[in-house]
Amino acid sequence: MKIQLDDNIFKTISLAASQLNIKAYVVGGFVRDAIIGRNSKDIDIVAVGSGIELAREVANMLNIKKVAVYKNFGTAQIKVHDIDIEFVGARKESYQRNSRKPIVENGSLADDQLRRDFTINALAASLSKKDFGTVLAPFNGLDDLQNRIIRTPLEPIITFNDDPLRMIRAIRFASQLGFDIESETYKAISVNAERLKIVSIERIIDEFNKIILSPKPSVGIEMLEETGLLAIFFPQLVQLKGVENIEGKMHKDNFAHTLQVVDQISLQSNDLWLRWSALLHDIGKPTSKHYNKETGWTFHGHEVTGAKMVEEIFRNLRLPLNEKLKYVQNLVGLHLRPIALVHEVVTDSAVRRLLFEAGENIEDLMQLAEADITSKNEKKVQLYLKNFKTVRQKLKEVEAKDKIRNMQPPVSGKEIMKIFNLTPCKIVGDLKNEIKDAILDGLVANERGAVLIYLFKIAKDKGIEPIIL
Ligand code: CTP
Repeated sequence: MKIQLDDNIFKTISLAASQLNIKAYVVGGFVRDAIIGRNSKDIDIVAVGSGIELAREVANMLNIKKVAVYKNFGTAQIKVHDIDIEFVGARKESYQRNSRKPIVENGSLADDQLRRDFTINALAASLSKKDFGTVLAPFNGLDDLQNRIIRTPLEPIITFNDDPLRMIRAIRFASQLGFDIESETYKAISVNAERLKIVSIERIIDEFNKIILSPKPSVGIEMLEETGLLAIFFPQLVQLKGVENIEGKMHKDNFAHTLQVVDQISLQSNDLWLRWSALLHDIGKPTSKHYNKETGWTFHGHEVTGAKMVEEIFRNLRLPLNEKLKYVQNLVGLHLRPIALVHEVVTDSAVRRLLFEAGENIEDLMQLAEADITSKNEKKVQLYLKNFKTVRQKLKEVEAKDKIRNMQPPVSGKEIMKIFNLTPCKIVGDLKNEIKDAILDGLVANERGAVLIYLFKIAKDKGIEPIIL
């Protein structure tokens, strides 16, 4: 089999290799993706010889000034437009990017392929003039690609020992590409799951995020749970699993429900953080669970507990502690509010409060709340969705009228201090809060004149007089 290598870059690498009198191949993901018609930005080149020298020669020919050389890893990288090209010499030993062990080069192409993670990633396409584009697949990688199978080229235990991250990678590729993991390979993951502990959390999360971004994330997350990998890096998620039964009363399995919500939101959005919000929306349930003889199982306040847990989870998993964290906390904390509006008569005041608290996240929150409906009763689902339409309509009307979404109360704390000659103190905060509440409750219009009149009135009730006027 041959793949099309139309880009001029490949011709240049071919020429550079022949000038250095070495052989060069495109390997790994690029070849795999070219065959299955998937877009791939990064190119990995293996040289049977020095990868670093080949990179320098290619850069020279393309007049590229910057060659990033990683001596310890025996690799070099150049960037051509927005394409990253990594060069490495063929290796005899394990293909480890993050190991401190010295890299052993001077292997043959076959040695190098043997030390890669999966047969579908061990494909190489020749860059020699005489067989340009011909695919070399020593372990039936082409058949595995066609039959959609993830399998290690060596005994799974050897491949996974070389780099235990590969256990998660197997599941990531299965979830991303919709492939099956061959049974011996899958068994070996369960047996060796503990070895994931030696892998850095950053590398694990990189792969986990790819699972979350896959078309149906539950496919990968279920495998992570089943093999025992999930418990190692994300125990809080595993704790959602299980159904308790007291006196014949059961609650639903919150793990299965969560995965269904993540899948449903994934049909609507590719946003990583909205998907994370779905993954964490019920994370507070295990600690909020209570059984009551009359009412059965309750999870009161799980959204508040859950929102509080988000920061620690982000910290442990080295996820960004910036506005992404705030966004997920906001959605987890508010996820029950739209459905609560559906149950009540929808008052303007309740809608204003929701708009104020969700701000810019309101549309994402509505999507999450809709995805949270996982009832098997189709009639119930239809009724909820219809009611959500009413809530959306109401949100639109109130927002158009009151502009609450990005509300900055028309009188600031600074101004309050100036008007009443106050230094920063609790009373300023109280006055500000009362103004905010009055606007949200519809007692005062969201405009300066009305708010000032209201401010004087509530201040007077507290015995505070303005100094100007
Ligand atoms: N590789 C490996 N073991 C790893 C990581 C990578 O053997 N732990 C090899 C595989 O041959 C892989 C190649 O290095 O195809 C490139 O790795 P990477 O860029 O991480 O993955 P891709 O296969 O290119 O897939 P994607 O672009 O989706 O990340």
